[in-house]
Amino acid sequence: MSSLGSDLEMSSSSFSRTSRTSLLASSASSASSASSAPADTSTAGNTTLSSSLLSAHDEECENETLLNDDVFAPRRFRVDFEFENLGLKIKGTNKSVLDGVTGKIKSAHVTAVMGPSGAGKSTFVTTLAGKAYYGNPTGTIKINGVVRPLNDFKKVVGFVPQEDIMMRDLTVKENIWFSAQTRLPTNWTTKRKKRYRDATIQVLGLHDIRHSMIGDENTRGISGGQRKRVNIGLEMVADPLVLFLDEPTSGLDSTSSMEVCDALRKIADIGLTIVTVLHQPRYEIFCQFHDVLLLGKGGRAV
Ligand SMILES: Nc1ncnc2c1ncn2[C@@H]1O[C@H](COP(=O)(O)OP(=O)(O)O)[C@@H](O)[C@H]1O
Ligand SMILES: [Mg+2]
Repeated sequence: MSSLGSDLEMSSSSFSRTSRTSLLASSASSASSASSAPADTSTAGNTTLSSSLLSAHDEECENETLLNDDVFAPRRFRVDFEFENLGLKIKGTNKSVLDGVTGKIKSAHVTAVMGPSGAGKSTFVTTLAGKAYYGNPTGTIKINGVVRPLNDFKKVVGFVPQEDIMMRDLTVKENIWFSAQTRLPTNWTTKRKKRYRDATIQVLGLHDIRHSMIGDENTRGISGGQRKRVNIGLEMVADPLVLFLDEPTSGLDSTSSMEVCDALRKIADIGLTIVTVLHQPRYEIFCQFHDVLLLGKGGRAV
């Protein structure tokens, strides 16, 4: 096996802890189930459950240098993708919604997936994230230089859906802590989890509003841009190696979009692979990205 291959083995084995496996596997389903029933997240039952998991008034690590040097030290294990003629055929109909997409996605880079509406951007990230259960992928995908099934990697992949799904009557910190509690490996100490939570809050620029309630249409809470960053935080606290995002800046003004993109750059800097779908970014935001994959009508790379 090549050195890249053995690197991958190390990467996989470091994440093959049972708790990690089940937590991250469940994270994928929790994200999708949450998206199908967003209203459930704010039910009284869930709030009670979350209260028992939360202990918000605890010691915090507020030293940014310490957090970044320690918790967010550059990742030893990284994930690079190479795909050739990647496609997706919808099960049952055999309709092709993604066709012959070839390219590379590098770790420590932010790759923007762009193209007109209906081009297959969401399909592309969903397929690469191994979450396109409704279709059969075609073509070859190499991960760290070796052809491997995407399923092997689902455990280290975070997927940030377009809708922000969180408990509106909890604070930013409580939401992120709840996610950290349920998704970080069970063999991590509570102290380690809290440090990771606080580092995530820092890197996403949410420190100043960590005690603010999310809020909803009736009760004013944090802004739309802040909510998008909390949404990223909910995935970050699963300690992923790859983060896929579907339109994290849509509906935001340019300043808020820039804040989201800054956060993505910072996350990429620690070695994560970031792939984000973007719709009509302004020039300054476009310049923030390392790589761009442009899709055209029919799900083909342009
Ligand atoms: N599960 C599905 N079944 C049938 N058609 C689909 C499915 N998912 C996506 N498509 C079709 O594939 C095309 C690309 O969709 P999508 O990836 O959502 O585009 P984008 O995100 O670029 O706007 C669209 O024409 C859409 O109707
Ligand atoms: Mg889309």
